Amino acid sequence: MPDRYAVIGHPIAHSKSPLIHGLFAQATQQDMTYEAIDGGADDGGFMRALAAFRAAGGLGLNVTLPFKLQALAAADQASDDARLAGAANALRFEGERIEARNFDGIGLVRDIEVNLGLPLKGQRVLLLGAGGATRGALAPIARAGAARIVIANRTAGKAAALAQEMAPHLPGTVVEGGGFGDLAPGDAFDIVINATAASLAGEAPAVPASAFAAGALAYDMVYGKGLTPFLKLAQAAGAARVADGVGMLVEQAAEAFAWWRGVRPDTRAVLQRLTVPLA
Ligand code: ATR
Repeated sequence: MPDRYAVIGHPIAHSKSPLIHGLFAQATQQDMTYEAIDGGADDGGFMRALAAFRAAGGLGLNVTLPFKLQALAAADQASDDARLAGAANALRFEGERIEARNFDGIGLVRDIEVNLGLPLKGQRVLLLGAGGATRGALAPIARAGAARIVIANRTAGKAAALAQEMAPHLPGTVVEGGGFGDLAPGDAFDIVINATAASLAGEAPAVPASAFAAGALAYDMVYGKGLTPFLKLAQAAGAARVADGVGMLVEQAAEAFAWWRGVRPDTRAVLQRLTVPLA
């Protein structure tokens, strides 16, 4: 019997994770299956599906929206990244124990540093949004050596509170938060990351053009949506490079795969297969 893994979310039909992990398994010759599970919309659906998957011999799960907080709560042990993010995107079942990790942030960092070839050390990073996606990205970006991280959000107070909460955990990086309008005209960033849900609504966050430094990278965490309004805004503002989140998706998957199977798959071929030209 092959070992069983799955991704759980709601909705889940369009998840690329079964394709990605299937390709990883093939390339590394792992005897495993990877399916998609819909946790449903009702309270308790996630916990029921989790119990059923474990009872059927499942060894690990990827967790996507809206279950990442519940996944962390269900765990007996969690990594620092998962605890700081307040959410887990990967679970591993070790006998009776559930272990939780959050690989979203490290996936983002690996995509920027390895795939896009831009070391984060010393960089000025602007993170747009103050929800779960920003929370998960903060510690890995700081650990990679970013000099300064500014969190800017539509609701300024949420960004300020998040910065205040996280700053003590991120020594060596200056962390500040506020509204889009609080960004001073002379304040420019090397990397501007859209971690808001705006792209899903076909909108762009109201980030000023002055926020993009000459040569800046604009990164939208969504994928498969082409040039989003944020990426268009960034190009118009003079950003030198734009990227969507497909690489982050593939890299976080590789981290989970390595954690489960003890072998790190090569992400290049998979990334090439999933990448759609943005323009
Ligand atoms: P999650 O935890 O999944 O990231 P969330 O907590 O709902 O989701 O956060 C979504 C983020 O996208 C928030 O920062 C939200 O801004 P507010 O805190 O002001 O609500 C941001 N967001 C959503 N739609 C947006 C839009 N059209 N323009 C700018 N920001 C938007």
